Amino acid sequence: MKIALLGCGVVGSGVKEILDASEQNVKITKILVKDKNEIREARMTTNIQEILNSDVDVIVECIGGIDIPFQYIRQALQHKKHVVSSNKKVLATHYKELVNMAKKNGVILAFEASVGGGIPWLENIRHIKRIDHISTFEGIFNGTTNYILDKMTSKGVDFQIALQEAQNLGYAESNPIDDIDGHDVKYKCCLTANVIWDTSLPLEEILFFGIRNTKKKDIIYATQKNAVLKLTGRAVKVDKRIQILVIPAFLSSQENMAHLPKNLNYGKIKSEYLGESCYIGQGAGKYPTAHAVVQDILSILEKRKLSPEISKEFSIERDYVSHFYIRSQRVSSLQNFVSDILDEETVLTKNVNLLELLPYIDKDTFIAEIRL
Ligand SMILES: NC(=O)c1ccc[n+]([C@@H]2O[C@H](COP(=O)([O-])OP(=O)(O)OC[C@H]3O[C@@H](n4cnc5c(N)ncnc54)[C@H](OP(=O)(O)O)[C@@H]3O)[C@@H](O)[C@H]2O)c1
Repeated sequence: MKIALLGCGVVGSGVKEILDASEQNVKITKILVKDKNEIREARMTTNIQEILNSDVDVIVECIGGIDIPFQYIRQALQHKKHVVSSNKKVLATHYKELVNMAKKNGVILAFEASVGGGIPWLENIRHIKRIDHISTFEGIFNGTTNYILDKMTSKGVDFQIALQEAQNLGYAESNPIDDIDGHDVKYKCCLTANVIWDTSLPLEEILFFGIRNTKKKDIIYATQKNAVLKLTGRAVKVDKRIQILVIPAFLSSQENMAHLPKNLNYGKIKSEYLGESCYIGQGAGKYPTAHAVVQDILSILEKRKLSPEISKEFSIERDYVSHFYIRSQRVSSLQNFVSDILDEETVLTKNVNLLELLPYIDKDTFIAEIRL
């Protein structure tokens, strides 16, 4: 089987190394690079048309971003090439069009690496789904933010220092907005929910919050309560609606998820017959992510059915009632919702609908769910 690689950065170079060393009947015959001065071997080209018109069977997208990958993935599917991508942003944003296009052209669209990096997350979901009904999933799907919160908790450092460390170690991108503001987890939860429930959820309706405004005092509060602060993503199926939310949460230290160290990822699934099953591993990084990409390629070689279905319609349930911790300069305007005042800028709410709090949350607010 012949493979074309689009993008040869962190993930792409990992895929290249693994496949070039492999004895499987899978060979990379084309590699798309951005500039002519990056061409270092005969397989490399800057011309996407040369790849689309070649005899490759699978096109692997490892470029990142949204517009160019969207264009290239569409073109690849139209040229009846199977596509493997690690790009959660483009997949979650254009899910319906890409899945339908793959189906129309009789090819596979696979994206194991896009959620949970090296953890066989979607693979296990497919496996469970064959005989079971999944009712809910939750997890920690972003290694960068887990690293930051873990450092703040274990070493008592400030957010900016922990972020800088994450960047130095190559976990966080130089522009870390997608990680720290919760977008990345939103894409991953959307893709996971789509695969589990054979649907295509409207990404723009998913409520999400990040950890950008986390301060030492929030971590100290967690420690006092024998809790741990984590950025969580979760979804629950309630009849014809999916309740889906990305939010920092104070988790009881009794919970497994609360102990997830460093930059690892964690996912938990609940289904009728199997009950709870949990998965832990490297959610990012060159080789773990490339491993997942190569697994998809081999599954295509084995003619396994990897493409998701879109056969059901669900709307998003935005009502979400819980207790929240809020730190804000506008805390006085929240008085109707408050159960405890921690200090002049920090309160705990009664059991309230998150939607009612939205008008009071601004860019400087830190909000976390209390799940103790
Ligand atoms: N890194 C991870 O651990 C990880 C984990 C899971 C998923 N992902 C996803 O995998 C994708 C790739 O991530 P990455 O970390 O490998 O990114 P990266 O290191 O920035 O690699 C992207 C590569 O694509 C090249 N590129 C950009 N535009 C191009 C174009 N128009 N034509 C050809 N090549 C182009 C870049 O070249 P230049 O350097 O010259 O711009 C770079 O070599 C992203 O969607 C990311 O979200 C990454």
